[in-house]
Amino acid sequence: MNSPTMKPLDSTPATDTALIRDLIQALPADFQWGSATSAAQIEGAAREDGKGESIWDRFCAQPGRIKDSSNIDVACDHYRRYPEDVALMKWLGLQAYRFSFSWPRVQPLGRGAWNEAGFAFYDRLIDELLAAGIRPHATLYHWDLPQALDDGIGGWLSRDVVPLFADYAAEIARRFGDRLASIATLNEPWCSATLGYETAQFAPGHTSRAEAVQVSHHLLMAHGAAMQAMRAVGPKAQLGIVLNHTPSFPANPESEDDRRAARIDDGTNVRWYMDPVFRGQYPADIIEYLGADAPKIQPGDLALIQQPLDFLGVNFYTRSLLNGQNGQQSMVTPPAELGLTDMGWEIYPQALTQHLLRITREYTPPPIVITENGMANADSVVDGRVNDEARIAYLRGHLSAVAQAVALGADVRGYFYWSLLDNFEWNSGYLKRFGLFHVDYATQQRLAKDSAHWYRGVIEQFKTR
Ligand code: NOJ
Repeated sequence: MNSPTMKPLDSTPATDTALIRDLIQALPADFQWGSATSAAQIEGAAREDGKGESIWDRFCAQPGRIKDSSNIDVACDHYRRYPEDVALMKWLGLQAYRFSFSWPRVQPLGRGAWNEAGFAFYDRLIDELLAAGIRPHATLYHWDLPQALDDGIGGWLSRDVVPLFADYAAEIARRFGDRLASIATLNEPWCSATLGYETAQFAPGHTSRAEAVQVSHHLLMAHGAAMQAMRAVGPKAQLGIVLNHTPSFPANPESEDDRRAARIDDGTNVRWYMDPVFRGQYPADIIEYLGADAPKIQPGDLALIQQPLDFLGVNFYTRSLLNGQNGQQSMVTPPAELGLTDMGWEIYPQALTQHLLRITREYTPPPIVITENGMANADSVVDGRVNDEARIAYLRGHLSAVAQAVALGADVRGYFYWSLLDNFEWNSGYLKRFGLFHVDYATQQRLAKDSAHWYRGVIEQFKTR
């Protein structure tokens, strides 16, 4: 690691002075500044200390699935290097850190015996965070299902996974619930369902819309059952869910076809999850649109899904532009002049303000936390430094968008930059870098990018307001 105290940004430009003033004016004094990661993307130690195989371990081993043919055997070696990583968080001044439990690390087969060595790792990590004055926020499911459940019962295609997930949730709540600041049941269920079962980009790599829809229903049921099981334990941690919201816009606002396509896209990614969680029903227009692929629902399922939540986690990266020609909806690749990240995602922070206000108006949600926001950038180390001005601009735009939304009435309590470290970006392997810290995968050296220095400065100035 470089000396993180070396500060390559020597002065605060006027734009940042204005931003910090806006943040201080708009956000509550106890606003939580954080950063996020997930188990499969950083831990490594894929087969150590009794960890079971996950669907991502298996997926990576299948030729052609991961763009750089990499895997998650080592990743960022966080399993061993967590003390160093917590020290980086402390240097940043983070008040909060979001990580995920690996289900197969603590219960290798997804049912039956617990793995004490796996729990011991999270014990050490949580202790290290608390000792550094950083609040731990956990997610139970960030996509790494125990492979044994996929092999044995068909994974998320089976309703039988629901009580198993609830057992796992209750066990985490019992063991860690009083030391964690929050527990989210699921991370981005849309991705687990659609990318995992319809487009085959993610594990387990299936290609059926009907399956994806049924899986989404089981994921939502698992969320509800886990909420009930954790409430019964009564942990101090706040309990909620993390959803990915990519607001949908018509490519041509004048075109009725494009507007319809945007409504359907919004229906399948935003309303499909928000409506059952907050209203106990699926959106009728999307049930109709799905036709024979609509989910099979049993009496009581929707009541199970609609549980009171302490917080709603929103992951926001970009917006989608939709084209509705021939009655289909397809995503339009945004023109490069709009400003794209290394993922090809448009940089459009004003959609975050609009969206936070929209969900506040339409759903009256509990307090909102921005559980992820960030960008991939083609970063490289030059003379011991990563100059990622683009990421600083992205951060500026999105923090300002959050402040505006709060000033206009949205109740947002925290912001977690994705991600702390460069890490395994799923089917893109290690080709995409989202971190505040650059990772040299050959040496596992971490290097604070310019954006890390910048974010550190914002947090420090906010705290000493
Ligand atoms: C959302 C996911 O939760 C996270 O795992 C992923 O790396 C980021 N988006 C960036 O794609």
